Amino acid sequence: MTRRTLLVTASPHRDEALGSRLARKIAAQQGGDLLVRDLAAEPLAPLTVDYARALTLRDPLPRANATLELSERLVEELESTDRLIIATPMHNFGMPAALKLWVDYVLRIHRTFAASPQGKVGLLADRATLVIVSSGGFHRTGGSLQPNYLTPHLEAVLNTLGIRAPQFVYLEGLVSRCDAPEAMIAEAAAAVDDTGYR
Ligand SMILES: Cc1cc2nc3c(=O)[nH]c(=O)nc-3n(C[C@H](O)[C@H](O)[C@H](O)COP(=O)(O)O)c2cc1C
Repeated sequence: MTRRTLLVTASPHRDEALGSRLARKIAAQQGGDLLVRDLAAEPLAPLTVDYARALTLRDPLPRANATLELSERLVEELESTDRLIIATPMHNFGMPAALKLWVDYVLRIHRTFAASPQGKVGLLADRATLVIVSSGGFHRTGGSLQPNYLTPHLEAVLNTLGIRAPQFVYLEGLVSRCDAPEAMIAEAAAAVDDTGYR
């Protein structure tokens, strides 16, 4: 069966972003089909009241609405692929607004997760998932550390979809280290544990 990878990118730098370039390099190494959802090139519409009602009312409105249809299309992109790469910048210690909006469209009660007395249960098939996080500064080691709310937030989102063990790879210090982008991409590619991601 042909592998199908969904690549979700969220950088305003689009294809020039190091994270996007690393993601495409890894996807090419792995082969198969690549479906790209570029959230900067094609921004998602804000959520509507119909969508909010459909998600939160006990008896959702039966009529179709455009926001729900967009949600369905984005969920189907996840369902029609068997691996996932997310390439995202860190914006103000968290995920960029464009990626958060994608989350609000795909993490949907009764559709991609169910509420149970034991907590939320993911309804998507588990899959190899890689998240590439680019940041101008440092959040793991170095002199002036900053908080990283992106990783725990996105990890919780992916777990709730049913993706149990997403792998996170970091491109840090891009403001000061962008003089050797190829070396950074090669170093980060080598850090990807492809035993879990094969
Ligand atoms: C709105 C905004 C907020 C940012 N916030 C942070 C931040 O909190 N921490 C950080 O290290 N870099 C921050 N940056 C810098 C980006 O993370 C950095 O430029 C990174 O290279 C962007 O990755 P990209 O090339 O994939 O877009 C921010 C950039 C923007 C535009």
